Amino acid sequence: MTLDLNVRFKEVFGNKADYQFFAPGRINLIGEHTDYNGGYVFPCAITLGTYALIRLRQDNVIRAYSENFSSDSIKTISLDNLNHQESENWTNYIKGVVYYLQEQGYRLPHGFDVLFYGNIPNGAGLSSSASFELLVGTAIKHIFNFHIDMLELVKLGKRVENEFIGVNSGIMDQFAVGMSQENHAIMLDCNTLQYELVPVDLGEYTIVIMNTNKRRELADSKYNERFSETRQALAEIQEHLPIQTLADLTMEQFEKVKHVLSTDTLVKRARHAVSENQRVIEAVAYLKENNLVAFGELMKQSHLSTELDYEVTGKELDTLVHTAWEQDGVLGARMTGAGFGGCAIALVHCDNVEDFKTKVGKIYTDTIGYAPDFYIAQTSNGAGFLE
Ligand code: GLA
Repeated sequence: MTLDLNVRFKEVFGNKADYQFFAPGRINLIGEHTDYNGGYVFPCAITLGTYALIRLRQDNVIRAYSENFSSDSIKTISLDNLNHQESENWTNYIKGVVYYLQEQGYRLPHGFDVLFYGNIPNGAGLSSSASFELLVGTAIKHIFNFHIDMLELVKLGKRVENEFIGVNSGIMDQFAVGMSQENHAIMLDCNTLQYELVPVDLGEYTIVIMNTNKRRELADSKYNERFSETRQALAEIQEHLPIQTLADLTMEQFEKVKHVLSTDTLVKRARHAVSENQRVIEAVAYLKENNLVAFGELMKQSHLSTELDYEVTGKELDTLVHTAWEQDGVLGARMTGAGFGGCAIALVHCDNVEDFKTKVGKIYTDTIGYAPDFYIAQTSNGAGFLE
C-alpha cells in the first residue's frame, strides 16, 4: 500500500515524495462523553488511520490532495490566507493546524505538496478528524524541525476542533491519537491530563469493531447539545456543592444532590457523566486483574447508560450492540466514540469471531436494511514519522 501511495504521489504531483507519516484512529474501550465533563476515558489507538506523503516546496503554498476525496482536485492553500471556509471541509483542518502553529510562533518557512490517504471509515466515530489533525501537526513538526512536543500538538488539535471547526469535543481523541502505545490503552484523567498506559492483554479474546454504516449528519449539533446540557447540570449543582466538574461527584453524592436539577433530562445527562466515570475506574482495575468477564459487564452497563440516560445511540447502534450481547463467546459490547451512528465494539472469543460476524451481520441487515462492517481492532502507536 505504501508503495502505491508513492506512485500516486508521483502521478498527482509529478515528483517523488520525501517523507511519509501515519496517524492512527482510535477506539474508546470505556468512558464515553466523560472527557468534556472532567472525567476519565480509556481509549487506544488502532492500526486503521491516515497517511500523508510530503514533498517540500519553495513558495508559500500548500497543495493538498486526498485519495479519499479524489473527486476534489488538488487544493491550494496559501500560507497568507488561512481563513476557515465552510465549503472547503477537509482542508479546513490543515488550515486550522497551520494557523494555530503559526500563532504559537512556529512559522512555516515555506509550503509543501501533500497527498493523504485514510483507511479509517469517515464519520464512523473512530476519530478520523483527530487522526488528520495529528497527522498534519506531526508532519509539519518533523519536516520543519519544530521543537514542539506531542502534548502541545494534542492540545492544538483539540483547539482546531473547538475553535476552528466549532465542535465542543473533549481531548480524548487527540490524546489517544497522539500518545498511544501499541498493546496498551490509556487511562486518562481529562481534568489533569495525568495518564497511565495500561497493557491490554485479552488472551483468547479480541475486540471486534462493528460499523453501523449510518451517516452521522446531525452528530455535531447533537454533540454540542449534550455538551450544553451537562454544562447546565454542572452550573445548577454548583449552586449547592463546590465542585469543578461533574466527574468530581461519586454516585452517592449525585443521588443526594440530583433533586436540585431543573429537569429530568438534566438528571439523566448528569447521571451518565457521573456513573460512566465510576465505570472507567472499575473497568481499568478489572482489566489489570485480567477479569475480562467483569470488564465486559461494565461495557454493557456503559452502553445502557449512553442509550437510556445520555441518549446518543439510536436504533442502529442499539441493534448491533444488543444483538452482539446475545452471541456465543461475547463478554460485552458497547458503542464507542460520540455515538449517533458510527461504531460499536465487542469483546469476542477468537473462536467465535466468524460466527459472530455472520449472525450479527444478518440480524442487523434484516432489521436496518443495509449491512454493517466488521474490523478486528489491533492496537497501534501514536502519530509519527514512517521510515
Ligand atoms: C467524540 C469527541 C470526544 C469524546 C467522544 C465521546 O469522539 O471527539 O472528545 O467526547 O466523542 O466520548
